Amino acid sequence: MKTQWEIPEIGLKVAKRDSGGYLAAKGVAMPPGVPRSVPAPPGVRDFAGAVALGLNDAPRWLPARFLYDAAGSALFERICELPEYYLTRTEAGILTRAAPEIRKLTGPVTLIELGSGSATKTDHLLRAYSEDADSVRYVPVDVSSSILRAAAERIEDQFPGVKVDGLNGEYEAAFPLLAQYHPSLLLFLGSTLGNLNQAESVVFWRRVASAMPAGSHLLLGADLVKDPALLHAAYNDAAGVTAQFTLNLFARMNRELDAGLDLSRIAHEARWNAEWQRMEIFGRFLSTQRLRIRPLGLEITIRAGEHVMTEISRKFVLPRLTTYLGCFGFRLVRAFTDPRQWFAVLLLQKE
Ligand code: TRP
Repeated sequence: MKTQWEIPEIGLKVAKRDSGGYLAAKGVAMPPGVPRSVPAPPGVRDFAGAVALGLNDAPRWLPARFLYDAAGSALFERICELPEYYLTRTEAGILTRAAPEIRKLTGPVTLIELGSGSATKTDHLLRAYSEDADSVRYVPVDVSSSILRAAAERIEDQFPGVKVDGLNGEYEAAFPLLAQYHPSLLLFLGSTLGNLNQAESVVFWRRVASAMPAGSHLLLGADLVKDPALLHAAYNDAAGVTAQFTLNLFARMNRELDAGLDLSRIAHEARWNAEWQRMEIFGRFLSTQRLRIRPLGLEITIRAGEHVMTEISRKFVLPRLTTYLGCFGFRLVRAFTDPRQWFAVLLLQKE
């Protein structure tokens, strides 16, 4: 029987072959060759829809936010400590030096952080903000509930003056908080901005700008254009942790979508695109594989040599980035960088 399946991301309905139910997922034998659709929990349905969408596009791509399940978030924490991955260390150094001044420039505010992860580099700010106030509210927002819980516990232990109100969700969920917690400082660190493409970035900044009351502050971490050899090393580490991080997305397809992929035949690849000023990260198929998206009853063949883009990481040039942000009504208050000018932390104010 054919029924409809919705892909809410794009408001699309696709036909699915209905049958099976959860029994299939629970290991009851399936007739060979026929992908059975399985009513999946909402999170998995979201992932299934996004995978179907991106893998049927040309070139093929996958939305980056699915990299950060519990396993992916843990791998990313390890990336941040790699010798080649200069970003986290450099940004943390800037924040250590700049925190007292940032605190002075914004006055007392609620700190709202998009994609907080383990939030270790937020400590420098929390220290500065809790030093001369009885209590500070910190609202971390992250798609990974495990890492969010761990961060909240650690921070409340370490900073008795900080009240943590975590929000488990995507960035959109945080936008209404900007009016609710005014005056606030929105933290968008780690050069996560670089993971949005040109079109996504415009949509993102328009939404932030319209949700943010005039006078509110934004603290933005941006990785700067530099020697491609340094960039290449940062995304192709010798220990292979970044490769594991990329492959985890395909492993997640096996776990949640019953994709049936042979992970040993997919390679991590990261290369610098000079014209687009961005690192491009792919899973490259070493052999032709047929991939199932069980919840949708879909199958896709990916041929040997094909690339599936899993992430981009754009790099920025300072004056251009500042002028770009000005187009959305963000005025630069101060720019902080490291001595090598590898990374920038910008304090901006909504006009
Ligand atoms: N925001 C990080 C960055 O752009 C995310 C990241 C780091 C990443 N290493 C990665 C994403 C490797 C994909 C693959 O640097």
